[in-house]
Amino acid sequence: MSAFHVTRLLPEDATAAALRADVQQGLTSVPKTLPPKWFYDAHGSDLFEQITALPEYYPTRAEREILLARAGEIAAELPARTLVELGSGSSAKTRHLIDALTGLRTYVPVDVSESALTQAGEALTAERPGLDVHALIADFTAGLRLPATPGPRLVAFLGGTIGNLLPAERSAFLAAVRALLSPGDALLLGTDLVKDEAVLVRAYDDAAGVTAAFNRNVLTVVNRELGADFDPDTFEHVALWDAGNEWIEMRLRSSVAQTVKVPALGLAVDFAAGEALRTEVSAKFRKEGVRAELASSGLELARWWTDTEGRFALSLSVAG
Ligand code: SAH
Ligand code: AVI
Repeated sequence: MSAFHVTRLLPEDATAAALRADVQQGLTSVPKTLPPKWFYDAHGSDLFEQITALPEYYPTRAEREILLARAGEIAAELPARTLVELGSGSSAKTRHLIDALTGLRTYVPVDVSESALTQAGEALTAERPGLDVHALIADFTAGLRLPATPGPRLVAFLGGTIGNLLPAERSAFLAAVRALLSPGDALLLGTDLVKDEAVLVRAYDDAAGVTAAFNRNVLTVVNRELGADFDPDTFEHVALWDAGNEWIEMRLRSSVAQTVKVPALGLAVDFAAGEALRTEVSAKFRKEGVRAELASSGLELARWWTDTEGRFALSLSVAG
């Protein structure tokens, strides 16, 4: 018998308070910023799934290629009984891993998107008899606690989502993941790799405009949740490569001078014509940088696999 249940670690009022705090801080900072986790309401999660199928957006296909080729090796290295997945989204690629982990008893998808968790959890429970799916609605950067499930545990963080954290956030996050691991557990990490600038920029500025809609969706979320009056049509989608930081930066650039009101915060935010709001960074990595970041959080890089074109990497690390 399989079972599916969802636990909300963050109560809804805590999520609302976190959004208020992030918007207050981000829109009063210079330059203005908003954290990317607020992209992912039900519509944002759906737009992200559309992005994964775009011809320009290679990371999903590259990571799927690695998983298809290497899932058996990963399972042999770490025959997990519990698979925890942070930022699991649709769990689409994860199915290849779940298929290979023959002793797997429990899958713990963790995500801020309740709609993504519910759809993925219900589908997996129907498809995989015998697998317990224990979904957690939680922020993986905020004091994550895991249910007591059988080890060994494999913690997967796929898609390159680690690149959406700033360097200081990444090191705090990796240290927190390290603290979750017991001897014999491991971290499977997906990292997008540094490559030709034109390929990178195209992946974040697709011809069909899906990424632009995804980017603007954060304004719709703030309008709905905090009563703000952003007019998304007056914000232009920008994706640029920051060579110094080796990250893609997504911005929303106000095409006019305007004042946006956020009544729930008593805020009136002035935008100059051309002023940009940073909505996401998506860092790209090199093997030695990944190894060093893992090591400084007490994790030792044990295996490193790339797709045949060398665009994306999956690494397996153990507690050092
Ligand atoms: N792993 C999937 C989805 C990647 S999209 C893939 O590789 O295709 C990023 C996912 O992380 C989204 O589902 C989003 O809701 C989730 N997410 C982003 N920030 C988060 C946070 N701070 N805590 C929990 N989930 C988060
Ligand atoms: C979820 N994350 C890894 C995506 C990325 O590529 O940074 C989010 C995304 N932003 C724009 N397109 C996709």
